Amino acid sequence: MVESSREMPTSSDRNSAPEPATTGHSWDGIEEYNKPLPKWWLYVLYATIVWSIGYYVFYPSWPWANGYLRGVLGYNQRVELEQTMVAAREAQGALLASIDAAELPEIQADPDLRTFAVAGGKTAFADNCAPCHGPGGGGQVGYPSLADDDWIWGGSLEEIHQTLLYGVRFGHDESRISEMPAFGAMLERAEINAVAEYVLSLSGQDHDAAMVEEGSAVFADNCAACHGEKGDGIRELGAPSLADSIWLYGGDKNSIVRQVTQPRHGVMPAWIDRLDPVTIKMLTVYVHSLGGGE
Ligand code: HEC
Ligand code: HEC
Repeated sequence: MVESSREMPTSSDRNSAPEPATTGHSWDGIEEYNKPLPKWWLYVLYATIVWSIGYYVFYPSWPWANGYLRGVLGYNQRVELEQTMVAAREAQGALLASIDAAELPEIQADPDLRTFAVAGGKTAFADNCAPCHGPGGGGQVGYPSLADDDWIWGGSLEEIHQTLLYGVRFGHDESRISEMPAFGAMLERAEINAVAEYVLSLSGQDHDAAMVEEGSAVFADNCAACHGEKGDGIRELGAPSLADSIWLYGGDKNSIVRQVTQPRHGVMPAWIDRLDPVTIKMLTVYVHSLGGGE
């Protein structure tokens, strides 16, 4: 025999230790010992049996003739869920009532009310406003961004609230109204061309410098009353600034000429008859929080 084989158990080694009994089963020569279960395992089994009896006594368990064994604690998940919901509704109801009673600046100043109002306003915005103003109020052509500090009608809580309640050019008695005249019927083509070049110059875009003088005179006579002498807009009239890079209908020459010739007018619905006062307040605080609130 070779040296290394001495460490291998030989049949005579195995025979020298007492052989534990086997169950007699044999699979491919592998036999199964017949040993008692480990103590720890048995104790865990007994413990779970005791636990389960306790469970049957206290908690709902077996199906029974008229339903199921209810257990002495009377525990019921559905009842528990209902209790949680009632508690949540009560907590919400209290906040909603506080928002109803508070002035907008008070909501703004109270961290709990403000957080709740912003969350509620965000949901209502997605449902009612996002189709026009874009998700997050980013705006699109014809629909102003509500997330910047460029306001047509004003960005204070009070002004936003007013816009939401009554809308713009909506036909409600209190709607904000103003109308840019169609200058196509009032000015010469050349005058419109010149004033458009002047408007381009106001926002620092490329323009025909030779036409600015004439354009500036046309502007002073026809446009300044609404858009301001420097073209920076007048909010009471809903006339947007023409001196920045934010445009409702486009800031290129064609868009400006089109607006001067045959103006478009945005319509924003009034919400006073569609949403409850608390939702409108929450929307106001939410819009104010988007970045441009004044
Ligand atoms: C049908 C489209 C439409 C829907 C829906 C709509 N808006 Fe407007 N909104 C407009 C338009 C158009 C304007 C711009 C009006 C104008 O040209 O002066 C506007 C203007 C505003 C302004 C004034 C912006 C400024 O610069 O002064 C606010 C604030 C506003 N919307 C908030 C909301 C909120 C909040 C909702 C949802 C409750 C909403 N809007 C739903 C179309 C819409
Ligand atoms: C009676 C007031 C009034 C007068 C006068 C007026 N505008 Fe306007 N203008 C407005 C209003 C209001 C709007 C915004 C329309 C809207 O919100 O839908 C506007 C919008 C515009 C816009 C679009 C701005 C943008 O952001 O897309 C341009 C450009 C413009 N005006 C140029 C002029 C020029 C040039 C004149 C003079 C020839 C003029 N306006 C005269 C009230 C006026």
